[in-house]
Amino acid sequence: MCGIIGYVGKKNAINILIQSLEALEYRGYDSAGIAYGTCNRIEIIKTSGKIKNLKNKINPDIHSNIGIGHTRWATHGRPNDLNAHPHKIGKFTIVHNGIIENSETLKKLLIKENYKFKSETDSEVIAGLLDKLYSEKNDILNVLKQLKKLLIGSYALGILCDDIPGTIYAVRKDSPLIIGISDEGNFIASDVPAILKYTKKYMLLRSNEIAEINDKITVYNEKLEPINKEILIFDGNLEDAEKNGFDPFMVKEIYEEPKVIKETITPLLKFGMESLNDSFPNFKKYNKIQIIGCGSAYHAGLIGKSLIEKYGDMPVSVEVASEFRYQKVFLDKKTLVILISQSGETADTMASLRKVKELNIDTLAIVNVLSSSIAREADNVVYTKAGPEISVATTKAYLAQITILSLIALDIAYCKKIINDEKANQIIKSFEDLSKIIKEMIEIDYQDIAKDLYKHQTCFYIGRGIDYALSMEGSLKLKEISYINSICYPAGELKHGTISLIEDGTPVIAVITDKKIADKTISNIKEVKSRGAFVILIINDNIKVETEVADKIIRIPTTNDFTQSIITAIPLQLIGYETAKLLGRDIDKPKNLAKSVTVE
Ligand code: F6R
Repeated sequence: MCGIIGYVGKKNAINILIQSLEALEYRGYDSAGIAYGTCNRIEIIKTSGKIKNLKNKINPDIHSNIGIGHTRWATHGRPNDLNAHPHKIGKFTIVHNGIIENSETLKKLLIKENYKFKSETDSEVIAGLLDKLYSEKNDILNVLKQLKKLLIGSYALGILCDDIPGTIYAVRKDSPLIIGISDEGNFIASDVPAILKYTKKYMLLRSNEIAEINDKITVYNEKLEPINKEILIFDGNLEDAEKNGFDPFMVKEIYEEPKVIKETITPLLKFGMESLNDSFPNFKKYNKIQIIGCGSAYHAGLIGKSLIEKYGDMPVSVEVASEFRYQKVFLDKKTLVILISQSGETADTMASLRKVKELNIDTLAIVNVLSSSIAREADNVVYTKAGPEISVATTKAYLAQITILSLIALDIAYCKKIINDEKANQIIKSFEDLSKIIKEMIEIDYQDIAKDLYKHQTCFYIGRGIDYALSMEGSLKLKEISYINSICYPAGELKHGTISLIEDGTPVIAVITDKKIADKTISNIKEVKSRGAFVILIINDNIKVETEVADKIIRIPTTNDFTQSIITAIPLQLIGYETAKLLGRDIDKPKNLAKSVTVE
């Protein structure tokens, strides 16, 4: 939700800001802007639309050694030039990621003091407030301390003050911000990939800290005392965050899936069940699991539920984080709460984590971004080793999430002696064989299926049990990037109303990996087919089905329940991708979306 960047150093800030904003564009892309220092003045260039629009507005001869930049995902006010960041009032220019909940109250107070606002944003208020506080107390650190007390909501802020040229100030609360360090200059950024071209060294800025960045970096605690900060080295590489000949990122990220699964399982399975056991909390302490996530992470949770209940014999509830955070909670100390998040910054998942922690209930986070807020605040964390995921629609991180959940099911089943050593070793072997099968699944040509889908307005996905969970993700993938209205239903539920929408030619994608209930889903397929549906069936190669049941059949290699979903997710992802490609969609940046949803 909005990307922010700042640079001060020996190089030309303008080029760096633009390159970094391009790397951050996945966080929001409805408007963009930069502010830079020149001859003791701050200049602002901003525009609605993508970074390429901003580039067109910038004179290539401009040179500056300091600047801040922003790419926006609109929350307050439409995406237009005026609402784009940076915002400048009086002596202060700011870029903001987050939401200021008391902006209206603050704005009214500032208007009484004759402050004028040009935009409809909550963010512009911050610039006004800074200017007012600074006019009363000419001491920037105290002003920032005061600002933090007055703002309610979430924020990561890059700040320039006319009186202090050559320095960027930064503060944050509940929105991510890192400080990058290099010999040629220092940075602030919403995430590490934005600065990887220039440095791998960074610091995490905490909510109670204030950063002052020029040729050196000084971080102050809440008493305004300078503190020592740990310098971290990012362990990924630039290639992970670049397209490397692939276009769009989504395809690159799907092609990375064999490697991602290998890297995710290797540390967990290094010494077989022993290392798996050491990597997770002691599940024997719990008699219930509550899984929480949003979007695809929620869908991954549903797969976890199916496997943990079936093999670990433990009840699992799965909730969408935005619902969970406001619900009455019936959890006790014998419940483990698992929070799933690629970014580790999703506001609703974060709020759910805090709610559970207040009740002193144990938490485990399954997170992709190292040291992200959810990773830091949960009692335990297991990382999906997916590397930076740039495409807004998740693929490789989702696959890694279901891999970890499958391994949790295996660990619980093993600890409870439901699965013996021999069986556990066979399952471990099947995880090790996954990369090869995933590669084969990626190589299948899904264009043919996409041609059956792309001209339709509506499409259905159906499945039962774990196949319903898989279908939900397949359906989300298709709708978010192709904009086809794709609807997912449990296969047996369709005839309770929704089947009335099936017409001649309506595409229905059915998923069957669970042999035990295959016949039931096949009956449901026959019901839609007899009403004219065009059926695309994704089914295990060990399940017998007459060819005329479906119009197209994709056969999936049969493995075992623990790895089957991981393999079956691939065609679902690629069908979405190929369809969106035929429709000429902006696949990595679907309209109205952003990668990291740090607002409620
Ligand atoms: C869909 C997608 C989203 C995310 C959701 C949660 O392709 O990417 O549904 O899964 O916004 O995000 P994280 O996992 O970062 O908490």
